[in-house]
Amino acid sequence: MPDAAKLGHNLTGAQMSPDDVKEMMEAVEKYPPTIPGDSTRLAKERETMTEASEGVGTVPVPGSTKGKLKSGFDKMLGKQPELLVDKLGERLAFERTGVRLYDAVIAKLQASDSAGQKMIPELRHIRDEEAEHMFILKDAIETLGADPTAMTPCANVAGVMAIGPMQVVTDPRTNASQALNALLTLELTDNAAWESLIELTDKAGHPNIAKSFRKAVEQEEDHLRTIKRLLNTELAAHM
Ligand SMILES: [Fe+2]
Repeated sequence: MPDAAKLGHNLTGAQMSPDDVKEMMEAVEKYPPTIPGDSTRLAKERETMTEASEGVGTVPVPGSTKGKLKSGFDKMLGKQPELLVDKLGERLAFERTGVRLYDAVIAKLQASDSAGQKMIPELRHIRDEEAEHMFILKDAIETLGADPTAMTPCANVAGVMAIGPMQVVTDPRTNASQALNALLTLELTDNAAWESLIELTDKAGHPNIAKSFRKAVEQEEDHLRTIKRLLNTELAAHM
C-alpha cells in the first residue's frame, strides 16, 4: 500500500515553470473567450432548470396497507407525512454505503504495514455497527408500513453524495490516512443526521422509534471519536 505522501517529480504547480506562466497570462489577454457571456448566464441557466425540475423522484405509496397507512400518515406529520419515510430511507441508504466504505478501507489496510493492520479490528467493529443500524432503520420503516427496499428521493441524493468518499477509499493509490479522512467525512455527517432524525421522529409522534435510534447515536459518537483518533495516530506516525 502507498505510504504517506513524499517528495517527488510533481509538475502541477506554477512555480515549476515561471516562463510558461508569463506566456499563459499573455495568452489569456490575447485570446478572450469566443462565446459571449459570463458566470451570470450560467447562474441564470441553473435557476431556469431548477424552476422547471420536478425533484428527485417520489416517496412510494405503500401497496399492501394503503388505507391504514394513509390515516397513520396523516396523524404522523400533518400534510407532509412522506418526509419521515423519505428521511428514514436516506439514513438506511447512508448506513448501507457506510458498511461498503468500511469494507473497502479494511481491504485496503489488509495490504498495509503492521500499524495499518492493527486498525482493522476497530474498523470491523464500526462496520458491524453500521450494519446493525441499517436493520434498525429497516424495522422502523416497516413499523410505519412503508417499504425499506424503496429508494426514496433523499436516499438517492445520499447515494450520490457518497460517491466522493467511495472513490477515495476504493482507489488503490490512496493511503491509510486519506482513507480515514474519507471515513471522517462520513462519520461527521452520520452523527449530525442521526440527531436530526431522532428529532423528526419524535415530532412525528413516534417516541418508540425515536428511542430505538438513541443507541445508534451513542455508537455514532463513538465512531467519530475512534476515526479521529486513528487518523491522528496515522498522521503522527509519519511525521
Ligand atoms: Fe458511524
